[in-house]
Amino acid sequence: MSARKSVDKLDEKAAAAELKRLGKELKKFDVLYYEKDSSEIPDASYDRLRRRLEDIEKRFPQLVQPDSPSQKVGSAPSERFAKVEHKVPMLSLRNAFDEEDVKEFLASIRNFLGLGEEDSIAMTAEPKIDGVSVSLRYEAGKFVRGATRGDGREGEDISENLRHIKGVPEKLTARKCPGVVEVRGEVYMDRNDFLKFNERQEKAGEKVFANPRNAASGSLRQLDASITAKRPLGFFAYGWGEMSDLPWPTQSKALEILKAWGFKIAPAQSCSSLDEMFKAYGKLESARATLPYEVDGVVYKIDRLDWRERLGTVSRSPRWAIAHKLPAEEVETVIEGIDIQVGRTGTLTPVARLNPVHVSGVTVSNVTIHNEDEIARKDIRIGDSVIVRRAGEVIPQIVSVIKDKRPKGAKPFAFPRRCPECDAEALREMNVGSGEESVARRCVAGLTCPAQALERLVHFVSRNAFDIEGLGRRSLEMFFKEGIIRHPDDIFTLEERDGDGHTPLAEREDWGEKSARNLFDSINSRREISIERFLFALGIRHIGEATARLLALHYGSLQKLRAALESISVEKGKVQGGASWDDLLAIDGVSAVLAEPLVLFFSEEHNRNVVEGLLKKVKVLDAEAPGGESPLRGKTIVFTGKLVEVTRAEAKARAQMLGAKVVGAVSGGVDFVVAGEAGGSKLKRAKELGVEIISEEEWQKRCGAVS
Ligand code: IVH
Repeated sequence: MSARKSVDKLDEKAAAAELKRLGKELKKFDVLYYEKDSSEIPDASYDRLRRRLEDIEKRFPQLVQPDSPSQKVGSAPSERFAKVEHKVPMLSLRNAFDEEDVKEFLASIRNFLGLGEEDSIAMTAEPKIDGVSVSLRYEAGKFVRGATRGDGREGEDISENLRHIKGVPEKLTARKCPGVVEVRGEVYMDRNDFLKFNERQEKAGEKVFANPRNAASGSLRQLDASITAKRPLGFFAYGWGEMSDLPWPTQSKALEILKAWGFKIAPAQSCSSLDEMFKAYGKLESARATLPYEVDGVVYKIDRLDWRERLGTVSRSPRWAIAHKLPAEEVETVIEGIDIQVGRTGTLTPVARLNPVHVSGVTVSNVTIHNEDEIARKDIRIGDSVIVRRAGEVIPQIVSVIKDKRPKGAKPFAFPRRCPECDAEALREMNVGSGEESVARRCVAGLTCPAQALERLVHFVSRNAFDIEGLGRRSLEMFFKEGIIRHPDDIFTLEERDGDGHTPLAEREDWGEKSARNLFDSINSRREISIERFLFALGIRHIGEATARLLALHYGSLQKLRAALESISVEKGKVQGGASWDDLLAIDGVSAVLAEPLVLFFSEEHNRNVVEGLLKKVKVLDAEAPGGESPLRGKTIVFTGKLVEVTRAEAKARAQMLGAKVVGAVSGGVDFVVAGEAGGSKLKRAKELGVEIISEEEWQKRCGAVS
């Protein structure tokens, strides 16, 4: 943050202006945090803003506005849930940022209670769990309602959601407990569960959360409680609200009893001096990184409830407790280099090598930078001093570059244009969805790039590709490590090379004669393969089974397909167009986005060599146009307008089944056009070119005549 005038140098006018600005800013972040479950700034920066606001207000109390963030706890409940009034308000905690603040806290308590230096004050030191605070109401020992904090006085009724959380007991396990019990605590998500959960969300194309707290909050505020039920949430109890009777005299006793009632309690410690409090703090600080859940501080609470009663509250926070914040998880270090890692699909990912630093108890020496645009956006250079933080205390990332400390002569990072693993070209493709250039740069070598080879091999032998039984990932991994299988064509020489420089399979403990024979047989049974399976097995991006089939039908043989693809000129990784390219795009269902990686694949020498190698060992069968003696066999057809009897997709599938090629554009090579309702420009073009036009009825007849 930029240097600001210290608070004691501000005049009233400047203070008022700054309060206004800070208030506005903090409110914006509060809405994001409490209602949208996201945060735009690190907690440490939020705390800094908040602290500045409070410091200014302290100096100019006359400027405190009733709607200042300092006067509020959380945010008003949203409209989506029913409202619940908290008879005993849910308060917030004041923060202590250093030992001095804690000393002050304790001194003010002594002062308030009229205690001397020698009187010891029993305290609990509890981990401050970074989750969402909730209140659970039990009547006659049964869970009846649960609510969020909301603004402290009124929260949201999320009973159904809470009911499904493991740590929220439906019934209290107590022989006798007060008729009305409100247990307060924190709903949270374990770090590991959070990572897995986010992965699942990402795969499903759903919202990904920045940290476990946001994930917990988002999960709790689902209108459909069955969604909450599937989320890995937990609950720690640390306090209480309305109670018809108070069965404990101290905080430590309360925690004990709550535990006996069936609640999980985070490990708390008893302290009776500043020293012990700081020890507890230090202990949590070093345990922080290894705890399964996230903590952001230590909460010190006066143990004796009668003292608490006397101490009361100040501006919506109890005087009897304070949160000693753990240091911000942001540290400064220097980038020593930027390595490029190649993922299994060929994506080049930049990884910054750091001068190792300690961040939340873990040494970080590498940080992934997402892609080359990110490097450019943040202008990250080798030699730069950077701020690193562990996002959600888990994944380290570069927050920013300290430009002032940039060494003279540091040059912008030149992202490689070739794969560092295999030296093939690395390109940015078009994104299928948007048609825009993808942010990822990928190595085009695919089959021969060692970084990608194993995954490609797994795909190559998979069921819908070469379907080689007995050759699963585990065996492939072993063969790959030993250098026995590196490229797909090695599979087909496995038997003849068996025992060359390695233990023959039959003699290996986990193989044996029978398994070895079975494997060789299953490999041999795949020495003839359909062109579509062959194409699919190559694992070219976007070439799934359906597209492989379209290509097979269109070109008829691998030879023709290769001749066509290799005649398309490619320069600097970009397709240059031409007749063969137009022909390829004329296939209905083949777009430029889909076709580009295919052309690039065959333009790469490495890949052509692999295909050549394979062809020496396997026979690729020409496409067999199905449909027997169908009159549609070999015909090229265009559909236009809306079909009435069947959908366009079904008509296309039928045509292909009968051996016809369906293309998207009318040209001289088209045999006939099937005109549905309201056909447009394609009909006009067909008329101009004198291409036969038939009705849907006639089309049905032609199909039907052979069915
Ligand atoms: S006591 C009246 N104890 O921190 C004091 N709070 O702003 C109420 N928190 O809203 C809170 N762990 O969400 C307390 N052991 C703990 C806590 C804890 C986490 C959260 C809670 C509270 C916020 C303080």
